[in-house]
Amino acid sequence: MYSEKVMDHFQHPRNVGEIEDASGVGTVGNAKCGDIMRMYLDIDENQVIRDCKFKTFGCGAAVATSSMATELVKGKTIYEALQITNKAVMEALDGLPPVKVHCSLLAEEAIHAALWDYAEKHNIKIEGLEKPKNDISEGLEEEDY
Ligand code: FES
Repeated sequence: MYSEKVMDHFQHPRNVGEIEDASGVGTVGNAKCGDIMRMYLDIDENQVIRDCKFKTFGCGAAVATSSMATELVKGKTIYEALQITNKAVMEALDGLPPVKVHCSLLAEEAIHAALWDYAEKHNIKIEGLEKPKNDISEGLEEEDY
């Protein structure tokens, strides 16, 4: 049912953890399944993503897609990162079963939520970026996890 890459990223997720004083942090939740994903971005002065980490409270596909998403955004500019869709994440994982497509959406939204936070903190506007509708960052404290 799952590709080898999905199993690999599920069993050995890359970039798990937190970034202290991250440039941007985004948390998104899926209302239906209750799964939550938090993404941390470290962005340098040239708007290049130096580092990315995540924490996911969710299903295996959510873990695998967040892991792959962190790999894909590392080294990219914020505008390149904005172009990374859930489809791109799924393709990089050699696909997901149809019932798990929504899990990959969480990864795309987590990137957007973290970029949104970065833009707000730095008082800039990222052309083409919209606040994800599943952004639940506001009102959440670290202790809520
Ligand atoms: Fe909810 Fe996968 S089942 S993110």
